[in-house]
Amino acid sequence: MTIHTARRMQGMPASAVREILKVAERPDVLSFAGGLPAPELFPARELGQAFEAVLRKSPGAALQYGITEGFLPLRAWVADRLRARGIAATPESVVVVSGSQQGIDLTARVLLDPGATVLVENPSYLAALQAFTAYEVDVVALPGDSDGLRTDLLEDAIREHQPALIYVVPEFQNPRGATLASHRRHELAAVALRHGVPVLEDDPYGALRFRGTPSTPVAALAGDLTFHLGTFSKTLAPGLRLGWVHGPRPVMRTLTIAKQACDLHTATLTQHAVVELLRSFDYDAHLEVIRAEYRLRCEAMLRTLEHTMPPGTRWSTPDGGLFLWLELPPGLRDDEVFHAAIEHSVAVVPGNGFFVGPPQHGFLRLNFSNQSVENIELGMARLGRTLHELLARSSADAMGIQ
Ligand SMILES: Cc1ncc(COP(=O)(O)O)c(C=O)c1O
Repeated sequence: MTIHTARRMQGMPASAVREILKVAERPDVLSFAGGLPAPELFPARELGQAFEAVLRKSPGAALQYGITEGFLPLRAWVADRLRARGIAATPESVVVVSGSQQGIDLTARVLLDPGATVLVENPSYLAALQAFTAYEVDVVALPGDSDGLRTDLLEDAIREHQPALIYVVPEFQNPRGATLASHRRHELAAVALRHGVPVLEDDPYGALRFRGTPSTPVAALAGDLTFHLGTFSKTLAPGLRLGWVHGPRPVMRTLTIAKQACDLHTATLTQHAVVELLRSFDYDAHLEVIRAEYRLRCEAMLRTLEHTMPPGTRWSTPDGGLFLWLELPPGLRDDEVFHAAIEHSVAVVPGNGFFVGPPQHGFLRLNFSNQSVENIELGMARLGRTLHELLARSSADAMGIQ
């Protein structure tokens, strides 16, 4: 007997990255595939103390059901941080969610009717595409470059597609690691405001800038129309599943109702423990440590790529975040590189899975946060050898044909 699954699930792509992570688990494989933060930087001891303290001091409140909007002191902390970045947030405009992924899903649930259009950057964060697909919408992708989304194409795209939402990751985007340039942020905000199109600004990486000057969030420029997502996943630990959505008050009420239907509220114990942690822990000093370490790792990757990659290979130079984006030399495909790299005990993500529309096989996503400098040097040397061998093989094949 076959069980019918809903139409909304039928167009949803499986995450290519999660499939790849299974292969990358082989103990001999050095993985640059996952988007994983460095576990040695998780404040495990301090979190342990914070959990212990709330269970000792206020077990009743910490273990009880809570309100859907989230623990007020946590929302107040988030609102303060957002205001420091120019975003007009208050505790009432913030809803605590179970990771920013849930924020994407809830925003989509609240704003998108079936058949609506969402504008995204190409390539884009895969799990956002999955979330949008579940609401039976059309996803239209505009190209991006090293300065992020091509906002010069936005106005024509809005006229043509009448989108209900624009989704952007302006800081160190996943997968390209690109940052949306300042003039493009202003252009995005101006066009969105002119046409009244809401913007979903997904910002999991903004606190991880290790080069350059901080940029103005889109939510500070197009406030009334922007939903801004943040998370503790990359700064404390993803296992906490703790993030937030800030947005226009009336819609946040609807989003709260949507969250109620979804999971009532985010884990009370985790929220209380993180508030306890933030009282005693120097969060900004902790961010400095993470940034310094990721800078070292990113620089090690850039330096090693310089020495190991064949001519014709190009890559991005991110100012923060977890990823860089590598463009393969002409003639090589991401999927063949992936399989050959596994033979050399190194895992990368083929770029194709991040694209909307026609396949594009010339790219790889490389994560630099989850391996030591030593392993990055070793892994990139293995990847370089893989590319050299594939190129030598394809030129030998070509000569054989002649
Ligand atoms: C662009 C982007 N948005 C959202 C998320 C989800 O983060 P969270 O752990 O807060 O749900 C990720 C995770 O990698 C991401 O890359």
